[in-house]
Amino acid sequence: MTHFYYSWCAQQTTVDFPVERTERDEFILTDGKRVYDFISTSFQANFGHGFEPICSRMVQQLKAMPIASPKSSFDLKEDVSRRLTDLIDLDGGKIFYTVSGAEAVENALKIARQITGRPIIAARQKSYHGASLGALSVTGDWRNGPHLTFDEGTLRIPEYEDDPELVRTEKLFQRTGPEQIAAVILETISGTNGMAIPTSQWIEGIQNLCRKYGCLLILDEVLVGFGRCGTDFAFHQYAVEPDLICMSKAISGGFIPLGAVWTSQKIAEYYESQTLSCGLTNYAHPVGLAALDGVLASLSQPDFRQSMEDLETCLGENLARLRQLDAVTEVRQRGLMSAISLNHSAPTWEAAFQEGLHLFSKENLILLAPPYISSPRRLESAINQLKELISCRG
Ligand SMILES: Cc1ncc(COP(=O)(O)O)c(C=O)c1O
Repeated sequence: MTHFYYSWCAQQTTVDFPVERTERDEFILTDGKRVYDFISTSFQANFGHGFEPICSRMVQQLKAMPIASPKSSFDLKEDVSRRLTDLIDLDGGKIFYTVSGAEAVENALKIARQITGRPIIAARQKSYHGASLGALSVTGDWRNGPHLTFDEGTLRIPEYEDDPELVRTEKLFQRTGPEQIAAVILETISGTNGMAIPTSQWIEGIQNLCRKYGCLLILDEVLVGFGRCGTDFAFHQYAVEPDLICMSKAISGGFIPLGAVWTSQKIAEYYESQTLSCGLTNYAHPVGLAALDGVLASLSQPDFRQSMEDLETCLGENLARLRQLDAVTEVRQRGLMSAISLNHSAPTWEAAFQEGLHLFSKENLILLAPPYISSPRRLESAINQLKELISCRG
């Protein structure tokens, strides 16, 4: 028995994962075995496991100013906040910092309820928004368990494939009383609930409903932000302009816990005179901001973007080969993220791990999200390993 808990499992069912160190895109286990990190750890190690431009920036910050008051202002805080709003590329707006994705969601929900004065948040069933009680209340998957969450404040809307023209959704709004609905929260492209990629018609229709009934649109980009799906943010692939955006994971490359909420300019103006009743001790932590500085700098480098594109092409070509397998029924890819559906149950996480692959699988689905800094050769060899694994189980 260890002196610490493993997350999301009965403790005795966990698989031995004795890691000695990490390198680039791999875990090196205590017996020397190498395991390819096919999902960038928990979808946060997008820049790999020791990316110099981010790590050195953090070390420099640790030496210069490792702690800051939540109320203080300093050049780095203003500079990265401006550059992050530039990357989001909407109407200006402002950033509220947190230390996790769940807290980004919590604060977005608080802000939406305060601004509108309405209690209800509409959300999808096939969703995950974080493990704290507010974020779990809008989460629809199994993790919204028996935790006394505020589910009476959540309105479940149909999935996009069940209501592509939002006829049922609008009726649901009207039955609930649109004047009760503060916001709709959505993962732009969902993560661990199957990489569902909504149609433009649906997501833009949701925005139209929000505008018609005066609700806010919150997009959860915790997993898909910062280049994962081929654009800076996944919502850039749609004609939508959310009011709030939740971010975390790759915001710091996972090198330090950090999260953020972007709010629109209109919301920012509201808080000029109203009290923003949100805050935390480690608000805008300077080492987190230094990591974000490194992330933004890397994403703005043409060479870095080119190597991401090359890896995306490599992933696409290799997925096309995988698609030839009888067992593979569908492959979805957006940028450096992919979902593979099989006609039988997917290899378990444990089985893949034994074969040297760290991936996410659920029912008949496998998710892949390799680190951006992987070499095409290493990615190709990992896909070959995966092909073997799928073929063996067919
Ligand atoms: C889409 C999405 N939102 C929110 C979260 C919660 O983030 P965190 O685990 O940092 O609290 C996650 C975590 O996996 C996520 O995938």
